[in-house]
Amino acid sequence: MAETDADAAALALAKPASRAPRSSAQRIRAIRRWTPALWSIRIERPANYPFKPGHYARLGLPVDTPEAAVWRPYSIVSATTDSELEFLLVLIPGGAFTSQLAVLREGDTVLLEQAVFGFFLDSQLAPGDTLWMLATGTGLGPYVSLLRTPGALDRYTRAVLVHSVRRADELAYRDEIEAPAAVSHGRLTYVPIVTREPGVGVLAGRIPQLITDGTLQAHVAHTLDPADSRVMVCGNPEFTTGMRALLAERGFTPCRRNSPGSMLFEKYW
Ligand SMILES: Cc1cc2nc3c(=O)[nH]c(=O)nc-3n(C[C@H](O)[C@H](O)[C@H](O)COP(=O)(O)OP(=O)(O)OC[C@H]3O[C@@H](n4cnc5c(N)ncnc54)[C@H](O)[C@@H]3O)c2cc1C
Ligand SMILES: NC(=O)c1ccc[n+]([C@@H]2O[C@H](COP(=O)([O-])OP(=O)(O)OC[C@H]3O[C@@H](n4cnc5c(N)ncnc54)[C@H](OP(=O)(O)O)[C@@H]3O)[C@@H](O)[C@H]2O)c1
Repeated sequence: MAETDADAAALALAKPASRAPRSSAQRIRAIRRWTPALWSIRIERPANYPFKPGHYARLGLPVDTPEAAVWRPYSIVSATTDSELEFLLVLIPGGAFTSQLAVLREGDTVLLEQAVFGFFLDSQLAPGDTLWMLATGTGLGPYVSLLRTPGALDRYTRAVLVHSVRRADELAYRDEIEAPAAVSHGRLTYVPIVTREPGVGVLAGRIPQLITDGTLQAHVAHTLDPADSRVMVCGNPEFTTGMRALLAERGFTPCRRNSPGSMLFEKYW
């Protein structure tokens, strides 16, 4: 069930469209495989395709019958300045879209809807000191776009990126995130969490539990307080729903139309 305007819009758009949306076929320029079931693709970016970090695109397949295509929303991973569009995808066994996409190679094409969508934009949040970016699985994507986009995090004194995956090899973009974090003098803290491989990753255990028992805050040496913290939460719907309740208990408020809040959510299914 949709809990905010953003949820309702995303879920409505995730459903099959009744007719083919305005779209174009874009070539796949590069594919990067993180694991057999997790990969990133880079596709051509059409002219006049503006977006902000946190926006999502809609991709469709097959290309040759757009009227019968399956359409799905995917968060854009690229910097807003990038000449290509990048997406991070996990293969859903038997999934109507990802099964088709998984067999495509560089040089093949995919349908891209002309518009971008979504409200998972940090500008929805009231001004704050520390931005917490919490993700499970492919929910990392919008944060990579924020990190890659010049100046996108300038309004925060500090940013904390927490990425929870089952196995260490699913820590996509780890090197790319660790490098700037290492030279950020504490402005960017990266916390990779691996839940199903004991002894691997910086922390183990699910994010809500790590917050409830204080492990995460102790690790990053910062409190999670609505007075100065702003929180973005993206990925698994049970995770986003659990985080919404946990943060609300701590006094965080949701973002509504014309009313910036201190917590923001993107639910992927
Ligand atoms: C706003 C938004 C942004 C999204 N961005 C991304 C993204 O950047 N990367 C990405 O991989 N997916 C993303 N998704 C999910 C994506 O749109 C598809 O739902 C997903 O790729 C499955 O499509 P499918 O047709 O292969 O599976 P379907 O045949 O539609 O089967 C879907 C089922 O698989 C499960 N499922 C769907 N997505 C996921 C997922 N990511 N992880 C685990 N289980 C899932 C659910 O149980 C769902 O009922 C996003 C969804 C929304 C609403
Ligand atoms: N990951 C794989 O090995 C793999 C391989 C092939 C296909 N797939 C497909 O991809 C889908 C998505 O897998 P995924 O691993 O990307 O996503 P996921 O199942 O959402 O797991 C990603 C991370 O989120 C954590 N998590 C799950 N539910 C949570 C909750 N309610 N609260 C807090 N944290 C939670 C997981 O911890 P836990 O480990 O504790 O659950 C894990 O660390 C699967 O459903 C499957 O269909 C996955």
